[in-house]
Amino acid sequence: MSHYPKRIGVLTGGGDCPGLNAVIRAVTKDALYHGIDVMGIEDGFLGLIEDRVRPLAKDDVSNILTDGGTILGSSNKANPQKFAIGKHDDGSIKYMDMTDVCMTHMQTNGIDTLVCIGGDGTMSAAAPFAERGVNCIGVPKTIDNDLHGSDITFGFLTAVSVATEALDRVHTTAASHHRVMVVEVMGRNAGWLALHAGVASGSDVILIPEIEFDLDKVAEACMARSQRGKRFTIICASEGAKPKGGEQIVDRVIEDSPDPIRLGGIGKWLADKIEAMTEIESRYVVLGHVQRGGTPVAPDRVLATQFGHHAMELLKEGKKNRLVVMQGGRLTDVEITSAANKQRLVPPDHPLIEAARSVYTSFGD
Ligand code: F6P
Repeated sequence: MSHYPKRIGVLTGGGDCPGLNAVIRAVTKDALYHGIDVMGIEDGFLGLIEDRVRPLAKDDVSNILTDGGTILGSSNKANPQKFAIGKHDDGSIKYMDMTDVCMTHMQTNGIDTLVCIGGDGTMSAAAPFAERGVNCIGVPKTIDNDLHGSDITFGFLTAVSVATEALDRVHTTAASHHRVMVVEVMGRNAGWLALHAGVASGSDVILIPEIEFDLDKVAEACMARSQRGKRFTIICASEGAKPKGGEQIVDRVIEDSPDPIRLGGIGKWLADKIEAMTEIESRYVVLGHVQRGGTPVAPDRVLATQFGHHAMELLKEGKKNRLVVMQGGRLTDVEITSAANKQRLVPPDHPLIEAARSVYTSFGD
């Protein structure tokens, strides 16, 4: 009992992800059961900066397991160490260190421990608090499944399922019109989402950032299918895919975000090029945030509940500044910032790539 914190603060930072509410629920119920108070911090670290914090009771987390998004809200711009407070005369962003402000707000709210549910940026933002003696336990989330040191993260399987359904639906319309359809999926610099959804949907071509594609080969694959009498070609393209010797397509740069680059645009680029090269009518669909929204699939609800439970186990054992991860099918934990600035990418010889190639899927290489 002596290790137990008195009052924990829970926040969700970065982009949302199906399963966040399941973690909040697991953490809150476990904590309350063990006599630990829970404060919900609104909109990630922004709520700590602005002192928007509210107590969470059992009823607040009841019936949220199946809900997408996060009941606490999130922010992917609020880094307390480098918080944008306006602009300099030359137009550049003016930043301020708000760590002390956050520490004060934690003290006035009696928070001695933080459970930070987020990605890289959130864990890096938590580190200075850990240095000042606040125990920070990290629960990773990402639909990209690219967390270094974890075999899987919750949210990924929901995104795969949404993308697969979209690809399945695109198949029938593509066949009706003898078209090439390019479906652009998320994933940042990692191709896990495109690879899994592409294999699950039987996509004819899968393009991932880890394997640079040759545009001629992609066009050839479309032509060859058409010549064999196939009525369509489906291309599942990761937003981070790039042609040999080329660059990723950047949709926008969000200057005050910890990871400012937002990828997007490869779907249109590919469809235009393929149509010009093959004379086969080509269209594109960008799935975007649909992949992140809505109710988590059952395995993500399970995984998120396990992650939340493990975070509480760590707290009750008195462990400090750990990040929950899944390794070899077993929940364990690593130092909270050990995954920062690293990405778990798809190895080009991954067994799933070999399996896809064995059913004649092209990777455009
Ligand atoms: O990391 C999750 C993710 O959905 C990526 O797949 C995507 O590139 C990015 O976030 C989109 O970010 P935003 O929600 O800021 O547009």
